Amino acid sequence: MRLLVLSCLGFVACDAAYPEAAPVDPSSESCGACHTREYAAWSESPHGRSSDSPVFRALVAEVRTTWGDATAKRCEGCHAPGHDGSDRIGCVTCHQALGNRGARDALLIVDPSAPIAAPHPPTGPTPHATRPGSFLASAELCATCHVLTGPEHFVESTWDEFLASPAAAAGLTCQSCHLPRSDGRADHGLVSVTPPWGRGEPLLTERREAAAALVGAALDLTLAQTDDGVVVRLANARGGHSVPTGATLVRELWVEVRGPHAAVARALSVVATMTADGVTVPLPTEADTVVVGALAPGEAVERALALTPPVEATLYLRPVRADMAEALGFDPDTPELAPIVVSRVTLAP
Ligand code: HEC
Ligand code: HEC
Ligand code: HEC
Ligand code: HEC
Ligand code: HEC
Repeated sequence: MRLLVLSCLGFVACDAAYPEAAPVDPSSESCGACHTREYAAWSESPHGRSSDSPVFRALVAEVRTTWGDATAKRCEGCHAPGHDGSDRIGCVTCHQALGNRGARDALLIVDPSAPIAAPHPPTGPTPHATRPGSFLASAELCATCHVLTGPEHFVESTWDEFLASPAAAAGLTCQSCHLPRSDGRADHGLVSVTPPWGRGEPLLTERREAAAALVGAALDLTLAQTDDGVVVRLANARGGHSVPTGATLVRELWVEVRGPHAAVARALSVVATMTADGVTVPLPTEADTVVVGALAPGEAVERALALTPPVEATLYLRPVRADMAEALGFDPDTPELAPIVVSRVTLAP
């Protein structure tokens, strides 16, 4: 008991909700020794591999060269916060977060002496203290990192998009869609768009299918016949935020329309425009102007085409746009980066 008092004196956050210190090793591996299920899902998730992404690493190298070391450190501060002693977004980053100094720019307050935030009271004795997880369950936890106001062109507005969405009005949180409960327990796998680099099959195929299902769940792709031809339409009908959201600079979505005799490769395209002196460039570090390409919740794009049915429309997603991948030294058609077929519709004559 003496230990507990000492550790309380040593840290700012020491209130009645803290029955005792949390005597656990903060490394995610140590949590994983007991919480095998959460650890297994987290290890393959973008949080568990947040500094591993070769695309992230290659971009940070560009940032370091162009904008300097201090700016590159800001990237790493969010992608590799190191709360668990490694360069990942570890278990304690979320489970020992007490709050934030604003829901943006990674201003998270993490106390390594805090009891572990839990969604429900433990059913039996625990080797570490727990506390109620109201911040853990809140969208503000996620928003702390999922809103960037820089550096430079690195701007992400997922939280603001979410606040204005029907999903927020319906009382959903980020967790409702991204850490859904399976068998009553929060699924830490984070269905996502970023590929599981270097993990091989069958995980790669599984994750590409999951990404297609995730993105496809938000979007409606339709074809309609008119007097002059066909209209192809893509709508963000059910997204909890824009599509794509977050790293919109990196992603690319497009629709190809094909008939028996003609095809339009880019009938519709949702991608950021990056330019320097009005000329298109592949990297944000080269751009003076960036215009985000994304569909807000409820927003749609459409185009009339002089094609006669039968026609088929296919929606593709690239986790990393081809021009950027090439400029960073990747083959855009490597299995991790090849286009993912999200959905396909046909219109009969
Ligand atoms: C405030 C936190 C924060 C900062 C600072 C930040 N990012 Fe991110 N970054 C994120 C989040 C959150 C995502 C996930 C969004 C998504 O995947 O759509 C992300 C996604 C990415 C991705 C796509 C995922 C991948 O690994 O392929 C890249 C690349 C990336 N960031 C690069 C950078 C670079 C380079 C910088 C610095 C210039 C930077 N980020 C700064 C939070 C941050
Ligand atoms: C991105 C933040 C985040 C990270 C990182 C994270 N968790 Fe969680 N964890 C959550 C959230 C959110 C919940 C569910 C909260 C709720 O439903 O109210 C949760 C729930 C849990 C639960 C209770 C499961 C249940 O639903 O009954 C356990 C156990 C757990 N996490 C362990 C871990 C372990 C171990 C790690 C690291 C391997 C980890 N978490 C990493 C956010 C996170
Ligand atoms: C020595 C084993 C052990 C270690 C190490 C451990 N835990 Fe736990 N933890 C438990 C047990 C046992 C429970 C209670 C499980 C129950 O209620 O059925 C628990 C409960 C929890 C809960 C509450 C949810 C629940 O299932 O009741 C969370 C969240 C949690 N631990 C996260 C963590 C995190 C994060 C770490 C690493 C910093 C960690 N644990 C380290 C054994 C451990
Ligand atoms: C400490 C900062 C931080 C916190 C807190 C955080 N994230 Fe993230 N998140 C990131 C970063 C950085 C990435 C990008 C990792 C990568 O792929 O390079 C990311 C990636 C993701 C992705 C994958 C995006 C994609 O398609 O690749 C999802 C989904 C996600 N986070 C959801 C959440 C949710 C839900 C919460 C709250 C429970 C949360 N995050 C809390 C920083 C954070
Ligand atoms: C109604 C369900 C829903 C809610 C709520 C929701 N999302 Fe999403 N999220 C999705 C869907 C569907 C996608 C795939 C389409 C897309 O990219 O927007 C996605 C994709 C993402 C991605 C990867 C996007 C990309 O294209 O790289 C990130 C990061 C993300 N969500 C973070 C969040 C955060 C943070 C919150 C809370 C502020 C949140 N989401 C709330 C459904 C939801």
